[in-house]
Amino acid sequence: MNLNRTTKYLLITLKKSILVKADAAGATTTLGTLNELQATMRRSENPPADLQTKIDEKVAELAPYVEKLSENPNALKVGSRLFLQNCSVCHGSNAKGATGYPNLTDNDWLYGGEASNILTTLHNGRIGGMPAWRDQIGEDGVRAASEYVLSLSPNNGSKSNGELDQTLVNQGEAIFKQQCALCHSESGKGMISAGAPNLTDNIWLYGGERETVRNTLRYGRAGVMLSGKLS
Ligand code: HEC
Ligand code: HEC
Repeated sequence: MNLNRTTKYLLITLKKSILVKADAAGATTTLGTLNELQATMRRSENPPADLQTKIDEKVAELAPYVEKLSENPNALKVGSRLFLQNCSVCHGSNAKGATGYPNLTDNDWLYGGEASNILTTLHNGRIGGMPAWRDQIGEDGVRAASEYVLSLSPNNGSKSNGELDQTLVNQGEAIFKQQCALCHSESGKGMISAGAPNLTDNIWLYGGERETVRNTLRYGRAGVMLSGKLS
């Protein structure tokens, strides 16, 4: 199931008061335990090995309540207020995002669009891990791999890119299969377990202009989504 835009707003409404109003009281116990586990995590320098697993389990337990809340107009209203207060600074007041900040209103997800994926994003935070490639494959490799990436997009990444250099595309394909498929998958469609974006659509987190893609490859990217208390 893909959650629509309004549902996404509501995902941040996992506050006690709203859960009670929405008759999702069972979630308050889970949320209480989760808050304690997360506090322990923040306090400990060497967290026990199973602590993160326990946190992930509690987050997963909350997912059905989130889906239930999506039918509650009151929760949606509070959710959109919370969104404006806590999230719009980065994702925009219409949630359509900006360079480096994903659009939350489409069906393209770095980390998955199920309630459990989104809850994990919000509770644990996320750090994008696109390595820098210039030292490993050289400037020539960067140019070839970039050209191949552009060839995967419906309109070569951007109108301003013009024609592609087919020799570079072919060289880049070999590099891609060897170095990039691990995270972006063989087809280039991405992988939510790695947070690696789909490179075959028209949606760009950092931009599809040739030089922007080259910079993504040269220097790497690491978008940061913090977790924390909502105000
Ligand atoms: C300081 C800026 C910032 C704030 C504030 C912020 N985000 Fe994010 N968010 C990001 C960035 C950057 C990413 C992408 C992380 C990456 O590139 O790996 C992201 C990713 C996400 C994702 C994952 C999208 C996907 O495609 O999988 C969701 C969902 C999300 N944010 C929701 C929220 C919500 C809800 C709030 C408010 C509670 C919020 N964000 C507040 C910067 C922010
Ligand atoms: C270790 C996993 C990993 C490998 C290997 C990897 N990437 Fe990535 N890539 C990512 C992640 C994660 C992101 C998203 C970064 C972020 O959210 O800030 C990304 C982002 C990108 C983007 C930006 C897409 C956009 O929408 O703006 C491009 C282009 C890209 N990678 C191409 C490549 C190419 C080409 C290679 C091989 C030379 C490669 N990647 C290898 C994980 C990887």
